[in-house]
Parts: sequence; structure tokens; C-alpha cells
Amino acid sequence: MQTLAQNLASQEVDASLTQLIHTLANTSKAISHAVRHGALAGVLGATEQENVQGETQKKLDVITNDMLKERLKDDNTVRGLASEEEDYIVEVGDKGHYLVCFDPLDGSSNIDINSLVGTIFSILPAPSGELSEASFLQAGRKQVAAGYVLYGPSTMLALTTGQGVQLFTLNPDTNEYLLTNDAMNISKDTGEFAINMSNQRFWEAPMQTYISDLLLGSIGPREKNFNMRWIAAMVGDVHRVLSRGGIFTYPTDNKNPHKPYKLRLMYEANPMSFLVEQAGGKASTGYENIMDIEPSEIHQRVAVILGSANEVDECLSYHGLDYSKEPLV
Ligand code: F6P
Ligand code: MN
Repeated sequence: MQTLAQNLASQEVDASLTQLIHTLANTSKAISHAVRHGALAGVLGATEQENVQGETQKKLDVITNDMLKERLKDDNTVRGLASEEEDYIVEVGDKGHYLVCFDPLDGSSNIDINSLVGTIFSILPAPSGELSEASFLQAGRKQVAAGYVLYGPSTMLALTTGQGVQLFTLNPDTNEYLLTNDAMNISKDTGEFAINMSNQRFWEAPMQTYISDLLLGSIGPREKNFNMRWIAAMVGDVHRVLSRGGIFTYPTDNKNPHKPYKLRLMYEANPMSFLVEQAGGKASTGYENIMDIEPSEIHQRVAVILGSANEVDECLSYHGLDYSKEPLV
């Protein structure tokens, strides 16, 4: 089995990007170690702080954010970073080629129930000149690499440098990532969907109709039965989609009129969209491709519909129709 280093060499990834990917991969090994020690290390539970998005920070949100920040600061390929847990961008060095956006511990509310969590990252080219938030506001298409690490029964790293998606498994005996799938491929069709159904009454009409049709199964217009799964950690749900197909969505809703979307563009939606497209799937807001969005701020949120290409197209066809904005239920 190829090591991560051997695989990056075989892809002819340049030296500075290889170095940065190793920094992220090595940090994820330390995070995996902290996550696995759980209550034994006293890392579970909440802090008294909130992040800029008004969410209570878990102790592990803060610990994993610090781990990534400290190690990225020591990597001379990094110019700056943006994190879900940092209010503002952080300038790292003046010579680095790259900007890194990350969610250090996605799905962190799962940590207290010993369920799936992960780290998501996106690597952008650093523009020349002075660094500011504007330097980060690049469309997802500009990403040079993206990936996630899933801390599950095994620790896995899914990575793209724009040459397909490679999946590595952390060997707990040697603490080394080994290539276990050299080309993840999302099936075009699926019978599985992932959505938080408790928000149903708050969705837009097209999404309400689409999901109602899935629920009608073989007696509805789709004429087949669908299964539903919801891990409540994007990294876990997207990993399932990459592994066996499916459609994952966190759509627009009007539960809180000031917050119509849940997932963050720069460090959740964009990196996952890059992986999904590289694995043959699609990623959209319902109205445009996620990676074509020109960002307006680092913590911006977007609607997300991603996964098996034909199923995403099916969902989008509902959005193209002239539905009433009134909820149908
Ligand atoms: O990071 C946000 C997040 O935790 C995602 O990982 C996940 O998909 C979603 O929120 C879960 O939301 P909900 O609380 O609606 O299940
Ligand atoms: Mn997250």
C-alpha cells in the first residue's frame, strides 16, 4: 500500500503543497489521538465561550483549532489561515504560497455521545500583496487542494489535489496514512438521502416537494423506495455519500430569518464540493454551483445539495419549476 508521501509523489504534487498537506495530515494524527482519549483526557464538554457565529465552543473545538493554528504557523508555505473558530483571519508568514481555511472539528456536538466528528480543510493560493480578509474571498474553483479527516472507527483522510479523490486510512500501529482507495467514485444514482427532517416545515417549496416525493417511495412519482440517514456531522454524511452514493442536503430554511443557511462556504461547502465533483458527483445551492460562488465574507453560509449526479439533477429540476413560495404542508 502506498503511503501518503508516495501517493503525492506519484501525483507529482509540487514540493510546497506536499509539505502543507503533510502538516495537515500530521496534525490530524494528533487530533485523532486527542479525540480517541475522550473523557480520559478531560477534553469533552463545553467551554464558556461562543465563537463568532454564536455557537458555544466545545473544549475540543478550541483544542483542535489551537493544534492546527500552531502547526500551520510553523509551516513556511502558509501565508494565512481562516477557521470556523477564529473571528478574523490569521496572518502567518509573508512568504507562504497558500491560504488554509478549516473547520477543526466538524460535528463537534457529536463528541459528547462518542459519535463521528472530523476536520475539513480547503487550500487556496495566496494572492500577492498585503494580506486581508479579501485575499481569502476566492471562489471554490480556485482551491488547489481540499480534504477531510474522519475520526471514526478508523481515522481516514480523503484528499483531492484536483486529480480525483484518494482515501487514506491511518494505520494505528505505525501512525502512518496508507492509501486504501485510489479513486473514490460516487455512483450516479442512489436510493439514499440525508437531511435534517425536523426542519421540514421551514424549507422552501421546491425542497418540500422533492423530499415528499422521496418519502412517497414506490407509490409516488419516483416509483422507488428511498432510505434516509443523518449523522449530524457533515463530514460523516459526506463520507457516506463518497463511499456508497447518496444525496446530502442542508437546504435554505426560514426557521431563523436572519440565518437562512447553516453550512459555511469557505471551510465546509467549498472543500466538500471540490471532493464531490472530483469523485464524479455534483454540488449546488439549488440555484448555482457552490464552487462558482464569489464569497463576500469568510464565515458566510450557503445552502448545500450534493452527491450522486443524477439525484442532484433531479433535486435541481424541482428548483427550476415555478413552485409557490407557500409551504405545501
Ligand atoms: O458544522 C455544522 C454541522 O455540525 C454539520 O456538520 C452538520 O451537517 C450540521 O451542522 C448538523 O446540523 P443539525 O444540528 O441540524 O443536525
Ligand atoms: Mn462544521
